[in-house]
Amino acid sequence: MDITQKLQRKATVWQQYSQHHGYLHHTELKGKIGSKMHYEGKEYLVWCLNDYLGLMDHEAGITAATEATAEYGPSYPHSVRLTVGHTQAHTELEDQLAKFMQREEAMLVNLGYQGFMSIIDALTDRHDTIIYDQNVHACLIDGIRLHNGRKFAFKHNSVEHLEQQLERAMKTHRPEHGMLLVVVDGLYSMQGETAPLDQIVALKAKYDFALFVDDSHAFGVFGAEGRGTPEHYQVEEAVDVYVSTFTKALGNLGGFVAAKKEIIEFLRFTVRSQIFSRTMPLPMVRSVQQNLKIMQAEPERRAILWRNTRYFQDGLRQLQIAFGQTESPITPVQINASLDEGLKILMALREMGIFSYLVVYPVVEKGLCLFRMVCSYNHSIEDIDQTLNAFRQLKEKYPSALSPRSTIEINP
Ligand SMILES: Cc1ncc(COP(=O)(O)O)c(C=O)c1O
Repeated sequence: MDITQKLQRKATVWQQYSQHHGYLHHTELKGKIGSKMHYEGKEYLVWCLNDYLGLMDHEAGITAATEATAEYGPSYPHSVRLTVGHTQAHTELEDQLAKFMQREEAMLVNLGYQGFMSIIDALTDRHDTIIYDQNVHACLIDGIRLHNGRKFAFKHNSVEHLEQQLERAMKTHRPEHGMLLVVVDGLYSMQGETAPLDQIVALKAKYDFALFVDDSHAFGVFGAEGRGTPEHYQVEEAVDVYVSTFTKALGNLGGFVAAKKEIIEFLRFTVRSQIFSRTMPLPMVRSVQQNLKIMQAEPERRAILWRNTRYFQDGLRQLQIAFGQTESPITPVQINASLDEGLKILMALREMGIFSYLVVYPVVEKGLCLFRMVCSYNHSIEDIDQTLNAFRQLKEKYPSALSPRSTIEINP
């Protein structure tokens, strides 16, 4: 069998999507990042960026990146962090993050995906047991795939099933040789629900486990000061390893892990994707430094984000349009439709100047599509009214596709 024959065998769902290039997938939005952008020459109200705090196009972040690029080029330093891929700015940002997160230390990773995947790999060996929520982000799933010890998934957000899996793990677990590691997302990116961290942490009284939280979508968004779901649930001290990307609230690239000093010191020398891959470029580091300062200095960004979220979601509720059990600015509007009909409804929404994308099978079950509408600080009340008005018209035109149904399955 040659490679083409092999790939033909593997080709499944992607083939039916490949014909929709440019509007269902690989879509290019142009212009300055904000609530209004251009697509194929027309202006749209954009609802699909994870720019929660409106920092992606903040002047201070752009200036910092531009100045660093002018001085050092776009991708300095030209090596891995452990060798000569280090700058003082990298350390400054780590200190800033550790201080903000009230943790002993923090470490940058060049990309959230490969960083978090490798952190799980570095922290565990065959003597350890990982117990993870079945819906954690793909990068954590890949990290868990690398694990050659025991692993158990628990049903999404079911504390009861987590406890059952802990009991199961305890039967073969040898605490003198290894640890139990529980892995969850703080906020789940597709449906916008939080992990019940208070209840998960309560299990620590009975079972001795370490807790790993990927809070990529909640950092800067949840908690009175923006320290994410652990702050929101008041369990910060019980979270042993906290990771977040910079690609959401901080509007940039890269990510970090925050934890006790001894954990971070260990990770600096053991996370393979960081030891064998280039460091986060200086322009990004300088830009994130600025955005982090703004995030802290302007808590009103978070307040406006939540005001917008409530306003939008209340409006959808009044229209009796279902958007799951979200607790966050992530608003997954449910469209009961096949791919073809879902595309028709997507185009109808775009006709009205509202830009979203469609989440389709296999991420969600067949017969269902989602418009993953993400509220942002950048949206104005007028923007939201215009969007709600578009949904009102959509519902009139496609009543059964936009009528609520019961539960839905998400496949990370
Ligand atoms: C929950 C979660 N974790 C990790 C990542 C990966 O982060 P990055 O985009 O920095 O690779 C994402 C990005 O979409 C995410 O949503």
